[in-house]
Amino acid sequence: MGDSRPASAFHSQNITPSATDRLVGALDAQAASAGVRRLRDWAHRALTARPGEFALDIGAGTGSETQVLASAVAGGAATGVEPNPGLRAVAEQRAAQARSSARFVPGDACALPVEDAATDVVWCERVFQHLDEPDRAAAEIARVLRPGGRVALLDTDWATTLLHPGNAEVVAILTGGALSMAANPHAGRKLAGQLAAAGLEIDDLGSQALIQDHRKVNWPLVRMLGDSGVKRELITEQQRDQLYADLTAAAERSALHMSVTIFGVIAHRPV
Ligand SMILES: C[S@@+](CC[C@H](N)C(=O)[O-])C[C@H]1O[C@@H](n2cnc3c(N)ncnc32)[C@H](O)[C@@H]1O
Repeated sequence: MGDSRPASAFHSQNITPSATDRLVGALDAQAASAGVRRLRDWAHRALTARPGEFALDIGAGTGSETQVLASAVAGGAATGVEPNPGLRAVAEQRAAQARSSARFVPGDACALPVEDAATDVVWCERVFQHLDEPDRAAAEIARVLRPGGRVALLDTDWATTLLHPGNAEVVAILTGGALSMAANPHAGRKLAGQLAAAGLEIDDLGSQALIQDHRKVNWPLVRMLGDSGVKRELITEQQRDQLYADLTAAAERSALHMSVTIFGVIAHRPV
């Protein structure tokens, strides 16, 4: 039998030290994008972490949002749970450089190293797409929140991937290929239902598109999807190369569009 693990190097079964720099680069580029910044601003405002509270950032990555939470809960504590040792080391180093009180621990979203009802606010961003059992992670969030505690759960829905211009059928094969990169590619649309099923009350929903630079083709991603389409014999080499030419020409006239939408849910544990 073939290996059925998803391709993403963010999946906890695919951790390799040599990938750390690439993952940090990807997270930093995403953090700089307007869509991610807007969605984070909205979610932090809606979550309203307060001084003295206990905050948890599940799947903290480079720890940027753990640091934001640490500032908001001054006098309390903000902990990032991060299973990847390379990312955790970067998060610790960046927090120390920024003189942030954010701390980081190893752990899994499906078995959080936290006592029942011990947390005031939970942040969990773009992690559910990498989970084999996201329902268990939603139940864990409900377990660790105190009554009245709040959560901001944000994630991508890879079925919203758009690529323009190009032959419609070829584009559909490439954007459909994006679905195989994540263990839970439709994560974004399921978040509210998963939190509600875990017993939480939904307070607000939001979304932003992560839009790539319209003047620059994201070649690593486009080539990965295009080459995979050829390998699976869904498109010919000629169709792939024509699409690459169309995208290159579009980028030269600022007419390229490539995006994926991230959704957010704000919820709380009923008192
Ligand atoms: C796309 S990154 C997002 C990082 C950060 N939350 C952000 O938005 O910048 C996905 C993160 O989920 C983490 N992750 C993957 N599987 C996990 C699991 N089972 N439990 C907790 N975190 C996990 C990865 O190590 C990585 O840090």
